[in-house]
Amino acid sequence: MDQSDVAGDLANILLTEEEISAKLDELAAKIDADYAGQDLLLVGVLKGAVMAMADLARRLHHPVQMDWMAVSSYGSGTKSSGVVRILKDLDADLTGRNVLIVEDIIDSGLTLSWLVANLRSRGPASVEIATMLRKPDAAKVEVDVRYVGFDIPNEFVVGYGLDYAEKYRNLPFVGTLAPHVYS
Ligand code: XMP
Ligand code: MG
Repeated sequence: MDQSDVAGDLANILLTEEEISAKLDELAAKIDADYAGQDLLLVGVLKGAVMAMADLARRLHHPVQMDWMAVSSYGSGTKSSGVVRILKDLDADLTGRNVLIVEDIIDSGLTLSWLVANLRSRGPASVEIATMLRKPDAAKVEVDVRYVGFDIPNEFVVGYGLDYAEKYRNLPFVGTLAPHVYS
């Protein structure tokens, strides 16, 4: 899928495929170095993190395991409330494991801070976070993130796993929607 397939729907391209690819190379090199010789379990948060997880994992030289979780934030509309429900739990037992959560985006931070606390309660050796995108101006809680792809403005974005009404996830870049799409 590329820009011509969504002609008119996008207001702006924030991150190109090339920029994302270069950033993933950087993050993967850091993760390889930080976890050298150690066990590592990547935990992807469905559905948004699918692209980041796949592209990050295949750049690692480290022999990781990969598992998935699906959560939903209760709350009105597109805003996260911090009250989270597990839709699909991990298959893996986290006892003694080094866990790296892979996320698409940190907005308010409420979902992720809940998730970190939840995973920490399962007896892992460590829990760290890698997120492709972060909106610093939207933060409602401090989340200690070890690996950040890009800090972006506080605007709703789509592409590279992120959706609007389940669309645009398969765009290889990140953009903002034209107002006519959601108004
Ligand atoms: P919080 O606010 O808890 O929210 O950090 C995280 C989740 O909300 C979704 N989200 C977005 N989805 N474009 C999207 O397509 C956005 O700009 C956006 N901001 C937040 C996303 O599922 C994320 O995991
Ligand atoms: Mg998400």
